[in-house]
Amino acid sequence: MAHNERVFSGMQPTGSLHLGNYLGAMLQWIEWQKTRECIYCVVDLHAITVWQDPKELRTATRLVAASYIASGLDPKKSILFNQSQVTAHAELAWIFNCVARLGWLNRMTQFKEKAGKDREKASVGLYAYPNLMAADILAYHATHVPVGEDQKQHIELARDIAQKFNSDFKDSIVAHGHDDGVFFPLPEPVITGPATRVMSLRDGTKKMSKSDPSDLSRINLTDDAETIARKIRKAKTDPDALPSEPAGLKERPEAQNLVGIYAALTGKAVEDALGDVGGLAFSEFKARLADAAVAALEPVGAEIRRMMAEPDEIDRILIDGGTRARAVADPVMKQVREIIGFIGA
Ligand code: TYM
Repeated sequence: MAHNERVFSGMQPTGSLHLGNYLGAMLQWIEWQKTRECIYCVVDLHAITVWQDPKELRTATRLVAASYIASGLDPKKSILFNQSQVTAHAELAWIFNCVARLGWLNRMTQFKEKAGKDREKASVGLYAYPNLMAADILAYHATHVPVGEDQKQHIELARDIAQKFNSDFKDSIVAHGHDDGVFFPLPEPVITGPATRVMSLRDGTKKMSKSDPSDLSRINLTDDAETIARKIRKAKTDPDALPSEPAGLKERPEAQNLVGIYAALTGKAVEDALGDVGGLAFSEFKARLADAAVAALEPVGAEIRRMMAEPDEIDRILIDGGTRARAVADPVMKQVREIIGFIGA
């Protein structure tokens, strides 16, 4: 049975969203919403793989939901909810813990980065996190997953899990009416945002990230115009002027990153962007970049602040989304239980 196209993606409520989330994923989400059935999630179960203060978690969950809406997500059209409301995620994640192999998880680069040197002290949840991510996607039989470059490996794992489940339970899947033996679709990563890997403003070799201790390393969607301009002024650069051709950005990670951001914000290809700014000194280029960033982000930040003043309204939207998400995931989970052989499914 061919699966209908359905989009699923999520972001962690572990602080304000930043320019990397926006250019790498969010803008694609908004594009997909125009033509497809989309489910967008604030992944609070993922967030608690590292310690979260309960009060801050609630605020961060609202902040991320407000950021989605301020960026253009329409909660009437798409389903917008926080993950913990739908128990299917945790239940299917457990089942996938029993499908995925240790060797597969041992290869996940993000766990190695996040756990750091003292791996023994990392939570079991941080290690099993990719199985939960596979469950997020597959509980809805989602087929397309718009994300930034850093999530590619996790989605490939979700495909492996879907495939192994389909093959382990093939006979049962057929017996339950799926004649082609395919229960879970193999989800596709969609990595086509205007900038799929935005780097830190302080170090062009490191990804822009919510967990970087330096706030100067990232532009948050909630930053005001002055803060955005200051962070760009302080961004690390090299001593040379900007090249006129993309080839001239090689071995210049900071220049490459800032030009990539400028191109993404102005909706241009890097080549065309360099047509505008090639030959400029960084000081002049940074002023243009700041203008472009403020023009794109200031209205988003203002809308986030407006929404955060009405937390009950955000909660109402999330709870409504939770009901709609359960209506999609519950029938899938009922079939999963039957296929596995659980009584009382
Ligand atoms: P998270 O919360 O780290 O990031 C959310 C989205 O933003 C993208 N992203 C970036 N893109 C470009 N440059 C960057 N510097 C950058 N930083 C982050 C991420 O690729 C992601 O698309 N595990 C996921 C959340 C998740 C999920 C899912 C995603 C949980 N379940 C199911 C898709 C489907 C995460 O931690 O993303």
